[in-house]
Amino acid sequence: MQYNFKKSLFPLLISSLLISFSCNNHSKFYKGMVSSAHPIASKIGLDVLQNGGNAFDAAIAVHFALSVVYPNAGNIGGGGFMVYRLNNGDIGTLDFREKAPEKSFRDMYIDNVEGELKVDDKRSKIGHLASGVPGSVDGMVKIYEKFSSVEWKNLLEPSIKVAKEGFRVTEKQAIGLNNVKESLLSVNDHSIPFIKDEQWKKGDILIQKNLAKTLEEIKKSKRDGFYKGTVAYQLIKEMNSGGGIITQSDLDNYSSLWRDPIIGLFKNHKIISMGPPSSGGIALVQLLHGAEQLETKNYDHNSFEYINTIAEIESRVYADRASHLGDPDFFNVPQKSLTNQNYLSKRFSKIKSNIKTLSVDVKEGSFNGIESDETTHFSIVDKYGNAVSITTTINGGYGSKVVVEGAGFLLNNEMDDFSVKPGYPNMFGLVGGEANSIEPNKRMLSSMTPTIIEKNDKLFMVVGTPGGSTIITSVFQTILNVIDYNMDMQEAVDSKKFHHQWLPDVLIVEENTLSDKLSNDLTQIGHKIVKRKTLGRMDCILVREDGSLEGGADKRGDNIALGY
Ligand code: GLY
Repeated sequence: MQYNFKKSLFPLLISSLLISFSCNNHSKFYKGMVSSAHPIASKIGLDVLQNGGNAFDAAIAVHFALSVVYPNAGNIGGGGFMVYRLNNGDIGTLDFREKAPEKSFRDMYIDNVEGELKVDDKRSKIGHLASGVPGSVDGMVKIYEKFSSVEWKNLLEPSIKVAKEGFRVTEKQAIGLNNVKESLLSVNDHSIPFIKDEQWKKGDILIQKNLAKTLEEIKKSKRDGFYKGTVAYQLIKEMNSGGGIITQSDLDNYSSLWRDPIIGLFKNHKIISMGPPSSGGIALVQLLHGAEQLETKNYDHNSFEYINTIAEIESRVYADRASHLGDPDFFNVPQKSLTNQNYLSKRFSKIKSNIKTLSVDVKEGSFNGIESDETTHFSIVDKYGNAVSITTTINGGYGSKVVVEGAGFLLNNEMDDFSVKPGYPNMFGLVGGEANSIEPNKRMLSSMTPTIIEKNDKLFMVVGTPGGSTIITSVFQTILNVIDYNMDMQEAVDSKKFHHQWLPDVLIVEENTLSDKLSNDLTQIGHKIVKRKTLGRMDCILVREDGSLEGGADKRGDNIALGY
């Protein structure tokens, strides 16, 4: 970690950002790299690194940039998690996940309809009641205070300029904006930059003047620029006008938290990942244990035996997730038991490569005693050897769809990540129990899995992806692709993915993954196959033997890895 320079960044030439980038991800870069969901965000981060900033400086700049150029998931109205590793080997995590508002309560999305209790999950997904108290700005300020080496304003200015002057939307973004128009109209009665009369098309310019003003406030006053003053007033006014429950007291009391990482071992690699309130780290360590125990490496990649065995492991891990995981500040998460080698060995011991277990027969594991007491990801490595892995979200694409009037940012619909009713599925089909029930100030369970891997005590890989419930399994399979199947980073990202999450009892598979024969064989043993266009949008960095960096940026999106 490089602490002892206070250097101003050179002014950044944003006009150059209106051009499109091309990048050969197989190129070698020795100094630094940023892999993110949008070319402009990656370029802003790269500029920070090239001007002497460290990985944390670049992460803050990229986070704010994504709030402008990737508004479907990049955010200031949401939350997320950071896993880091310093060049001296120190590791840690920051939890800037949203919290349930003080006025929230367990059954707030359950109605009594003529004596029958019915879940109204529309309210947890769209509109003002769907939002948790945002954590992203507090998180960025915490990272700045602990690790930053440049002036705060320099990390905001590039994004403010892009918000003010606009940027050209990509084809995928144009399609996304057209698809979301009706939902945006249904909850916003003021004009918002994401809606125009005609259809969006590639190359149209998206200008966000109100968002630029909000970012100016954050530039001026850091945390207070968002949680107090004009922006806070606009947020609370928006809540009051739309039936939301977030108050000034919620904003005053929000605080992101430094937490210990989850640490696991996979062969000779150390896995450093996010702990509760994300389920990602614990689930990833469980999954990797299963792959090692059942020696899935011996099967051909994405063969019948491989897919069934991995799906069987995944199903058991997600059954545990549903019962045992929640916010550790509210629920005694049995973290040690869930990652205990004996527990896991027993848990996976009955799996057979050619037999599919029905999900009704897979229950959560039990152990003795209680222990004492649409998302986006980016990966950054700097020339000093520090690494940052951040996954951040407003949950669904464009979150709750509510844009704060006058302030120009979208609010999250993270309340849907709570189990609104035990056993009732959320938007990702995930079920949960009491561990993840709604309580004031509690953080909703997440699947975000920002992860860093060491090999021989050295930085080896930085990995993560969006994808709701499929995040964990995409990260898992990408790691196996590199470590067990010797793929390079880009190949591992490009490789087709599949996913099983216990309930619903379906095997989700990317299109064009299975031959007809393989599909028939899996169906024969009981898999119900559901095809999905894509799984994951990974942004990863691999450190090769010679110390050079290789990016893996997902071609399923507009993602790009830029290095120097
Ligand atoms: N909102 C998706 C997650 O946190 O897992």
